Amino acid sequence: MASKSKILFIGGTGYIGKFIVAASVKAGHETLALVREATLSNPDKTQIIDNFKSLGVKFLIGDLYDKESLLNAIKQVDVVISAVGHGQYQGSIIAAIKEACNIKRFIPSEYGNDVDRVHAVEPAKSAFASRAEIRREIEAAGIPYTYVSSHFFARYHLNTGSASVWAYSSPKRQGRHLRRWKPKSYITHFSFKSLHFFSLEYLDSFA
Ligand SMILES: NC(=O)c1ccc[n+]([C@@H]2O[C@H](COP(=O)([O-])OP(=O)(O)OC[C@H]3O[C@@H](n4cnc5c(N)ncnc54)[C@H](OP(=O)(O)O)[C@@H]3O)[C@@H](O)[C@H]2O)c1
Repeated sequence: MASKSKILFIGGTGYIGKFIVAASVKAGHETLALVREATLSNPDKTQIIDNFKSLGVKFLIGDLYDKESLLNAIKQVDVVISAVGHGQYQGSIIAAIKEACNIKRFIPSEYGNDVDRVHAVEPAKSAFASRAEIRREIEAAGIPYTYVSSHFFARYHLNTGSASVWAYSSPKRQGRHLRRWKPKSYITHFSFKSLHFFSLEYLDSFA
């Protein structure tokens, strides 16, 4: 049986990240979260921070844009999962993973449409293009990766069609369909959490 991965979350205290962090702990992974110092005393984040403490998440103080803290955090784990917001540039994570040379898998923050297969109009077009650029940076850096494309599931409504989750991995595995839901008007947070249990099990198959 594959051993459990030691996972670092960047953006774990965010709207989406908090669910994945909790799922990681529940799945038995040693779970670390890179957090900014101010976040620990931010009243808006108290509930999330307290929950992480009760779950046994290890906090590492740092910042996405502070190379030293990022590198120090990355050197302590096998897997990096990013859930930073759309406005945050993930190039610093890619550079740090490349320099650290110890990461078995990187999951960049996407959790949306498959940005290599969309035909969008603005403003979505530019947003998807910047995500696709991050994919190209990861591939050029030679980092093992998995892209999680979960389409619209949170804060958005699905009026038609089905919701599905795909993972695209390197080096040998091609896109693997993880799960498909029947058409629904919306997908609940519960469904999202089960999605990540599913993804983390998939992740363990690489360890
Ligand atoms: N498909 C969908 O339906 C859907 C819906 C929503 C989101 N998403 C995707 O999910 C991902 C996460 O979005 P979100 O809405 O959860 O984002 P969010 O709530 O804005 O969370 C952003 C996270 O990044 C952290 N962060 C920001 N700047 C940082 C920095 N300089 N250093 C370290 N950490 C920093 C934040 O920390 P603090 O807690 O300190 O602020 C927070 O933990 C995005 O890729 C988004 O596109 C998809």
